[in-house]
Amino acid sequence: MAAKWLKDTVFYEIYPQSFKDSNGDGIGDIGGIIEKLGYIKELGCNALWINPCFDSPFKDAGYDVRDYKKVAPRYGTNEDLFRLFEEAHKKGIRVLLDLVPGHTSEEHPWFSESQKAQKNEYSDRFIWTDFCFKGAKGLPYVGGESERSGCYILNFFKCQPALNYGFLEVTEPWQKSFRDPAAIATREAIKDIMRFWLSHGCDGFRVDMASSLVKNDDEKKSGTSAVWRDVRRMLELEFPDAAMVAEWSNPPLALRAGYDMDFFLNDAGNGYSTLMRDYYNHGGSIHGDKSAEDHSYFKKDAGGNINRFLDQYLDWYEDTREYGYISLLTCNHDTIRPSYNLDREELKLAYAFLFTLPGVPFLYYGDEIGMKYLDVPTKEGGYFRTGSRTPMQWDDTANLGFSGGKAENLYLPVDASADAPTVKAQESDPDSLLNTVRAILALRHSKEDLQADAELRMICTEPDRPLVYMRGKLLCILNPGGSGADFTLPKELSEKLNNEVLFKIGEASAEKGSVHVGAQSFAVIQ
Ligand code: NOJ
Repeated sequence: MAAKWLKDTVFYEIYPQSFKDSNGDGIGDIGGIIEKLGYIKELGCNALWINPCFDSPFKDAGYDVRDYKKVAPRYGTNEDLFRLFEEAHKKGIRVLLDLVPGHTSEEHPWFSESQKAQKNEYSDRFIWTDFCFKGAKGLPYVGGESERSGCYILNFFKCQPALNYGFLEVTEPWQKSFRDPAAIATREAIKDIMRFWLSHGCDGFRVDMASSLVKNDDEKKSGTSAVWRDVRRMLELEFPDAAMVAEWSNPPLALRAGYDMDFFLNDAGNGYSTLMRDYYNHGGSIHGDKSAEDHSYFKKDAGGNINRFLDQYLDWYEDTREYGYISLLTCNHDTIRPSYNLDREELKLAYAFLFTLPGVPFLYYGDEIGMKYLDVPTKEGGYFRTGSRTPMQWDDTANLGFSGGKAENLYLPVDASADAPTVKAQESDPDSLLNTVRAILALRHSKEDLQADAELRMICTEPDRPLVYMRGKLLCILNPGGSGADFTLPKELSEKLNNEVLFKIGEASAEKGSVHVGAQSFAVIQ
């Protein structure tokens, strides 16, 4: 069962490098996040996911952790992070940190010890073959870099050696079972890190590459799931309120393994989301090939079909309702921003849909103002992802209010275009994306029927007709097309609704038996 506080939670994802710089060194920091908690609360988000903010050489933006228990000096100190927990809690905001359990940085002291020829406590903390010229049977590996005669396995980039949780199926003498004491010791070490932050006030974790732990795992990920169930047992006993969201993208497996939530991402569980391919459309390419055919459902008159998404989503939704939640996201630090392909009105509809579905949604910083995906050179292993990691655009002062430092010292350049959206400009425009997001989230918080648990029932999903669905007793209707449409309500529904339009984007009206929606519109009717 998922943590109770998730029932009415909307997350805000913060890439700490780029959110708000409070000391003028050009890089975002924890003090900056604390300064902006009021903004986040007003927006309607009541929980944070902060990308890794721990000591790191930053070859993968912090997903290469050198010390799991130490805040990276560029963001502040552990005390600053403890203060963030406290200040956030005062405002009713929960904080999830990013746990990277599958690999460390190649500079982590565990790994330096593991590389030594002499056997020690950490020799089996990582996965090694037993000879310098022996590869890893299909797994990516590095040889020739250590005193120890063996090759080590990678979990992602070259800088990220895989931690050893063992193998489900052992086929080589150098492979350890997932029940081996060394594999258990890795698991305990991760629990110890979790305990450390939870006991200082953190509310849980977003878990990086959650399905990657046990190697040679079966299709059902039995080995990796056993690890997470064990972690969940610890949480239940010691931190029953803690929540975990998986980067797994297989809610049936992740939620049964003890997760509260799992992200809806693409098939590979990483990179860019299916939601974006099917809605926002980047031509199926993570590189944002704009020339490719446009299948986005929310693009005006692009002829997109919502069923590409629903087929998978509804299947998972039905299968996982009793276990926990699916988390949809506007985008994340690994994907192209939705504004790459959708204009302001289209984004409003996309977000209205996303924020009226069940489960626990995530909003990526800057998406609420339609920040652009920028064409910038790679930074800290970001490659194409870097364009979605640029500084938050607060106002019209220097560096768009992100930092009081010199422009040349910024972590990444701010959007230099004349029409760069900012929070300040949008605050005073009632029609802005920001104010629309605020209104949708306020509505969600005010109606239990729009929150995580209320039942979702699809009423009409036919192409070229409005999309109609019930959340509890509320009817949601969405028309992304360029012309108005009428929808005749099934009798059973029209008898129950009192035709009051609670919320709308564009035109919408209801009278007994039918609903009229204008071009590019969305409405919630009770
Ligand atoms: C997924 C993270 O979201 C991504 O940013 C990172 O590069 C990889 N995992 C490796 O940790």
